[in-house]
Amino acid sequence: MGPGSSRARNDRHGDVSTGTSTAVTIDSHFPHVSVLLEEAVQALGPRPGGMYIDGTLGAGGHATRVLELSAPDGRLLGLDADPQALDIARARLAPFDDRAVLAHSNYRYLRDVAAEHGFVPADGVLLDLGLSSMQLDLWDRGFSFRRDEPLDMRFDPTSGASAADAIEEMSEEELANVIYEYGEEHASRRIARAIKRSREPVRTSGQLADIVAGAMGGSRGRIHPATRTFQALRILVNDELGALRDGLRAAVDVLRPGGRLAVISFHSLEDRIVKQFLRDESTDCICPPRQPVCTCGHTPALRLPSRKAGKPERDEAQANRRSRSARLRAAEKL
Ligand SMILES: C[S@@+](CC[C@H](N)C(=O)[O-])C[C@H]1O[C@@H](n2cnc3c(N)ncnc32)[C@H](O)[C@@H]1O
Repeated sequence: MGPGSSRARNDRHGDVSTGTSTAVTIDSHFPHVSVLLEEAVQALGPRPGGMYIDGTLGAGGHATRVLELSAPDGRLLGLDADPQALDIARARLAPFDDRAVLAHSNYRYLRDVAAEHGFVPADGVLLDLGLSSMQLDLWDRGFSFRRDEPLDMRFDPTSGASAADAIEEMSEEELANVIYEYGEEHASRRIARAIKRSREPVRTSGQLADIVAGAMGGSRGRIHPATRTFQALRILVNDELGALRDGLRAAVDVLRPGGRLAVISFHSLEDRIVKQFLRDESTDCICPPRQPVCTCGHTPALRLPSRKAGKPERDEAQANRRSRSARLRAAEKL
């Protein structure tokens, strides 16, 4: 994906080259509630004159707070793979004029995008992973099993294959492996068989939700039977775990010594990668535990203020269901 960019004060209707511009009404109610807002922003420690990168801009909630706390001259580079999200953020960040710079890019390319816009070395990098409630609830992109929409699921609809195409291209066994690995779904084989043997090609989220529910024998637990299958396909289509590994490495590279990294994850697959990365990057030796003598020559790049992940307070978890599984991990570059 080519990292196109624009200043927040410019065109409110987005990058016309993407063909996905949305008319955005600026009001104070942006349809995404930022999770662990104060905690994540505090972890970055914004200050006047600082340079910050938000790799997952979304509706710009965290970005707004970083810009407020780094006034009058702190700057923020915001990336999002989703041109529709960028339209929303551009409108929200317009009051900050050229203190906010926006780029349409996957955060796995953060190193290049940050260099291109003069944001290296940066004082802080934030990654708030996954999808926003706008993608889930407002736009017809097939992320939700509660609605019947074209089964797309790409954060960036201008690049890569949709979920419907991915399903068509995979064998039954490959699909089962994806559902098992990325959805941690034990009924993966049964679900993959039902999907691949369905009479009609699966082109909508409603069709997929019905097939999965049928294969699972209806709803039993507290979560919808298609929850894990939808998560698996979304992770696959967006190569979310690969992007996370690349993005963490790039974030450490662009930080100045003393600069901070904060990552909010929403499920165990993400949190495991973040936790492992931070652990490796903050220890002297990453040799296998049973190896008697160190041969890795590893040098730590990070210091961890705490090994424990931050979680939402009870009030936040009650007010915003999406926040319940959120985990915040932070680190400082050495
Ligand atoms: C949870 S939302 C961020 C919300 C934001 N922090 C706020 O306060 O409004 C995640 C956003 O990250 C974007 N995203 C997910 N993976 C991405 C990636 N690899 N590169 C760039 N953007 C990504 C999604 O499109 C979505 O808009």
